[in-house]
Amino acid sequence: MPIYHKLGKIPQKRHTQFEKPDGSLYYEQLFGTIGFDGMSSLLYHIHRPTQVKEVGEPLDMSPKIAVEKNITSRKLIGFDVEPKKDFLESREPLLVNSDVHVGLAAPKQSMSSYFYKNADADEMLFIHKGSGTLKTFLGNIPFEYGDYLIIPRGMIYQIEFDTEDNRILYAESFHPIYTPKRYRNWFGQLLEHSPFCERDYKLPQDLEAHDETGEFLMKIKKQGMLHSLVYATHPFDVVGWDGYNFPYGFSIHNFEPITGRVHQPPPVHQTFETGTFVICSFCPRLYDYHPKAIPAPYNHSNIDSDEVLYYVDGDFMSRTGIGPGYISLHPAGIPHGPHPGTYEASIGKKGTEELAVMIDTFKPLQVTENALRIDDGEYYKSWIE
Ligand SMILES: [Fe+2]
Repeated sequence: MPIYHKLGKIPQKRHTQFEKPDGSLYYEQLFGTIGFDGMSSLLYHIHRPTQVKEVGEPLDMSPKIAVEKNITSRKLIGFDVEPKKDFLESREPLLVNSDVHVGLAAPKQSMSSYFYKNADADEMLFIHKGSGTLKTFLGNIPFEYGDYLIIPRGMIYQIEFDTEDNRILYAESFHPIYTPKRYRNWFGQLLEHSPFCERDYKLPQDLEAHDETGEFLMKIKKQGMLHSLVYATHPFDVVGWDGYNFPYGFSIHNFEPITGRVHQPPPVHQTFETGTFVICSFCPRLYDYHPKAIPAPYNHSNIDSDEVLYYVDGDFMSRTGIGPGYISLHPAGIPHGPHPGTYEASIGKKGTEELAVMIDTFKPLQVTENALRIDDGEYYKSWIE
């Protein structure tokens, strides 16, 4: 997160004595990334953050691969993913490679009996349905329909939902998720041509500092295993922190589309980047305004990129037979394009209300058993005239 933020109380000078009201000391923790070279935050705990009481048996969370080498275009009916009570149990990995796991979740209940930390991956949660609060040890972020939540690896969190009707697209990224570098200056500030700016971020607020001892279950994902550790102190015991490493939210509705006289390529929709995949937002926008413009995209070959589109809302102009919550996978190696009729039908249209999230990966994606259960099986033939 390339801006500075602070919450709660912190000492004037880092790495110096910071006294509690009773004269004892708070416990400082440097929470960094990329060794000591990446973004970091300095945290002040009421208790030592290291008090492990028990380590339980780990659970294997590795996705079950059904198609290791895929060249089939696929349509997944996302809302067919069955709602489950627990947030972690509800997460179904669908399309995966060694860089990212993309999946869907339909959790019904808030996470209240345990805390969660993903030590392997930065997480992107896109809220399609539902609202609530992401509670973290660095503060809380209220969320609603259309929010991206970016949770850097290692953040301890719980998620609270307002109702049982929740639908989430998620990506677990084994590389840090940043905003696109070309939209930032040397100092990290977002530039004038960026489709969003710092004011659009939802930063952590309402730091809760719990001074509690007892038994606190923390589920930690590491090397694909879900470990269960019992801590002796409440994990949300941070009285203050500052720095650059923290979770944040961004609403897709605050993405300001870049349009042109002729069709603009997908990078104008880019919202986040990693070294190995990108996340783009397709938002309601005016169409291309050249008198001879064709608003639907040309056929294109993702020769070295798999394309995952998650349809959120509106009428997706270049597709037929697509509804909210559907995922299309257009694999590298073969071209794809508008469905028959949509190319011509787009001519003369002034705008679109489509809302979609795209994840383009540079390595091919494997298809999981979960994905095959919601695969319509016919999509690859859908361009036949
Ligand atoms: Fe495409």
